[in-house]
Amino acid sequence: MSFNGFKSIIQEGDIVVLYVSFNQMHPIKAVKQITTKKGNLVDNIFQTPYGALHCAELIGKEFGSKINLSKGYVFVLQPTSELWTLMLPHRTQIIYTPDISMIVLQLELKPGSIVIESGTGSASLSHALIRTIKPTGHLYTFDFHEERTKTAQQEFEEHGYGDYVTVAHRDVCATGFGNGLDQKADAIFLDLPHPWKTIEYAVQCLKEGGRICSFSPCIEQVQKTCTHLTKFGFTEIETIEVLQTQLSVQSRNMTSLNFDFLKEEGSNNSMDYDKSKEKQNVRVVTAVSPTTQAGHTGFLTFATLIPSWSTQGDLDDSIN
Ligand SMILES: C[S@@+](CC[C@H](N)C(=O)[O-])C[C@H]1O[C@@H](n2cnc3c(N)ncnc32)[C@H](O)[C@@H]1O
Repeated sequence: MSFNGFKSIIQEGDIVVLYVSFNQMHPIKAVKQITTKKGNLVDNIFQTPYGALHCAELIGKEFGSKINLSKGYVFVLQPTSELWTLMLPHRTQIIYTPDISMIVLQLELKPGSIVIESGTGSASLSHALIRTIKPTGHLYTFDFHEERTKTAQQEFEEHGYGDYVTVAHRDVCATGFGNGLDQKADAIFLDLPHPWKTIEYAVQCLKEGGRICSFSPCIEQVQKTCTHLTKFGFTEIETIEVLQTQLSVQSRNMTSLNFDFLKEEGSNNSMDYDKSKEKQNVRVVTAVSPTTQAGHTGFLTFATLIPSWSTQGDLDDSIN
C-alpha cells in the first residue's frame, strides 16, 4: 500500500525501494516469509552486493532509513511512480519519466481527470497517471494481452491503487474502448503499434475539448495517426520529441577580452590602445555538453477534440 500517499513507517506487506546505488534499485516486499517456486515457505532474504537483507527487519523502520549490512549499507525508500519506472519488472517496452512528464502536462491531467490508456504494457505510465488523477479521477486501461492485464491488476491492488483504475482485456483497434465510456474521458493516451485504428473510437469517448496523445517510435506511424486525427475532427495537432541533455558543470580556462588597460592612469582610450593587452586567460565555471546522449524514444503526437460550440458558427453559416 506504500504508493498511495506519504507514510513514514514501513508496515508489513509494503513495497519498499531498496536503494543500493544510483543505478541499482530493487522493489522488495516487507514480509517475513515468502513461498518458493516449489511451494515451500522460507524466510524472505534479499541478497545485495553488501550482504543479505532479512526483509522482516524492515517492518517498523522509517522510510529513508540507512540499513547496515555485513559488508556495507543500503537505504530503504518509499516508492514513487518515478522510482517504479526505474525498477519495475519489464513485460514490454515502457515509457520513461521525461516522456511521462510531457504527457501528464500536455494532457492537462489533474486530480479528478478521467483517462483512457492503451496498451497497459508494463504499467509504467499507468502508475504516473493514477498518481496524478487520484483520489477523485479514474484510469481505464486496456491491453489485448490477457496475462499483462492480470499482472497489472495485481500490481495496482498491491500498491494501493486498485480503487482508481479499471483494467480490461480488449483489442481496442478492433472493438474500441466500450460503450460505457461514451463522452466520459478528459484524455486518451495510446501506446500501440497501430494507433490510427482507434481514433474513431477515441472521438466517441472523449469529452468535447478533450486531449489525446499517441506515442509512436516511427514517423510513418505518426503520419498515419495525424491523417486520422484530422479526418475525425481533431485540432491543435502537434508532434514533439523529448530529448534530455545532461550538462556537466566544469571549471575551464578561457580567453576573454581585457579592458583593464583602459583604466590605467593617463590612458585616453583609443590612442593608448595596446593590442597585446587585449586578451587575458581566465578560469570560468561552464556547462559542457555531453559527447553522447540518450537517443530517440518516440514521437509524442498531441491533439484536441474540437468542441462543438467552436464550430457552431461555421455550421450556422453553412445553413443560412
Ligand atoms: C509498448 S507496450 C505499452 C507500455 C506502457 N505504455 C508502459 O509504459 O508500460 C504496448 C502494449 O500494447 C498492447 N497492444 C498492442 N495492440 C493492442 C490492441 N490492438 N489493443 C490492446 N492492446 C494492444 C500490447 O499487448 C502491449 O502490452
